[in-house]
Amino acid sequence: MTSSQENKQASSIGIFDSGLGGLTVLKDLATRFPHESFTYLGDIARLPYGNKSPETIKRYGLQILRFLKDANVKALIIACNSASTVFLGQNDFENIPLLNVIEPGSAAALRVSNGEPIAVLGTSATINSHAYEKTLKELNNNQKVIEKACPLFVSLVEEGIVGDPISFLIGERYLKDIRDQKIKTVILGCTHYPILRDDLKQILGDDVKLIESGEVLGERLHELFASGAISRAEKGQRFIRVCTTDITDHFEHLARNLMKPISIGPLERVIL
Ligand code: DGL
Repeated sequence: MTSSQENKQASSIGIFDSGLGGLTVLKDLATRFPHESFTYLGDIARLPYGNKSPETIKRYGLQILRFLKDANVKALIIACNSASTVFLGQNDFENIPLLNVIEPGSAAALRVSNGEPIAVLGTSATINSHAYEKTLKELNNNQKVIEKACPLFVSLVEEGIVGDPISFLIGERYLKDIRDQKIKTVILGCTHYPILRDDLKQILGDDVKLIESGEVLGERLHELFASGAISRAEKGQRFIRVCTTDITDHFEHLARNLMKPISIGPLERVIL
């Protein structure tokens, strides 16, 4: 499917991320909503977002939201945490419901933390924005929040270095303080981090509660369906479209592995 006309066939749920990590969200939502169609955009030509300024991230984000709107989506999900920080508080884009990961992730963490401190792991852009800390404190004024930028985690995932002595050592370096403070609720404030889930549990303990974006977004989507803000798809018309701003064999291989057992068609390269 390449022409924009063909793409307008049926309404899908639009998801975007700077790259590969948002596929963790796509996979989770595609599993939870087996009849829904999805249009995913991974901006891998311009990855990473996590070390860029808010102005640049916003410019990229607006281009992608326009692309997804033109692809006839019925809801928009910003899976990228770094991009979510610059759209915080915005609930629609040109009348299409817009979800970000910061608010639902914060609410989910508060539900399980029992008033104990919450740690937030993210890229430098996400941590420097203090978006999670602000949101958590808006929801609970007295909430203690510890934020930690873990920028190398993105490179580890993009290189497929997971469950490896190197990922473990880097994790130790970043997470030592959080472990020493015995913090047991940790928001994975970056799309890539769920892929390091096992490494993180090994470092922080099996009893740590890791808050992941896919799960919390699933709840928000259910709310949108239940309120009638968006309609459910007809059975049997499902498609999963994965678009990227660049295609490399390396990305394609990692993407297909990550999405298993859900199979995706040929990746589509788009120019924004
Ligand atoms: N997707 C980004 C996020 O969730 C991580 C990768 C990047 O830095 O672009 O913040």
